[in-house]
Amino acid sequence: MTRRTRIVLKGSAWFLCLLPLLVLLYRGFTDGLGANPISYATNWLGQWTFRLLLVSLALTPLRIVTGLVWPVRLRRLVGLFAFFYAGLHFLVWILVDHFFNWDQMLADLVKRRYITIGALALILLIPPAITSTNGMMERLGGTAWRRLHRLVYLVGVLAALHFLWLAKGFRPDAVLYAAILAVLLGVRALDTLRRRLRRRSARVTRTAPA
Ligand code: HEM
Repeated sequence: MTRRTRIVLKGSAWFLCLLPLLVLLYRGFTDGLGANPISYATNWLGQWTFRLLLVSLALTPLRIVTGLVWPVRLRRLVGLFAFFYAGLHFLVWILVDHFFNWDQMLADLVKRRYITIGALALILLIPPAITSTNGMMERLGGTAWRRLHRLVYLVGVLAALHFLWLAKGFRPDAVLYAAILAVLLGVRALDTLRRRLRRRSARVTRTAPA
């Protein structure tokens, strides 16, 4: 991949990841947030957090299935944007929904199962986000770094529970996101199993008497 292609790819990814925020701001300034702007902003940011999380989790399975390498280059960027949107989603909840009413927030955190799960998902996103740089990868070592970054799978599962629980009744989008997540995690699990079996059969061939 040439330097120019890389710049175009990253630039387009930046633009696409920022677009939901720009649309939200535009709607905010043009009275387009409906009758309940706080709920609109919370839901919009929650939706985009989940979508970007799914995109970041889809890039490796895409390489496994198609052999394409370039999407994996965008994994860190998209993952960090998912974290950014999760932070904004949380900020709207703190600043606008509760306006720093700590007692009310704590009560919400304890009482509402979906809030507890959402908060846990956000907390678990912090270690992968702050260790996403090349420097941190070198410092931690490849194996520890990869293990730590597997937390994102758990975040995906918590995000799915958060959405399914808050939806109460049947919500097609919540079920769709959970199904996409299951497929993505399934592809990774099958790939890991395939690689383990291949390694084991290579070991058996090497140690077998001639
Ligand atoms: C990785 C983290 C998170 C993800 C992926 C996520 C995702 C979502 C999604 C998809 C929705 C539903 C949007 C809709 O109805 O269209 C939502 C709503 C919501 N989330 Fe989150 N969320 C996360 C973290 C949090 C955190 C940390 C909090 C607060 C502590 C939170 C509080 C809420 C609230 C209050 C709603 C609105 C519920 C309602 O409409 O009654 N979320 N979130």
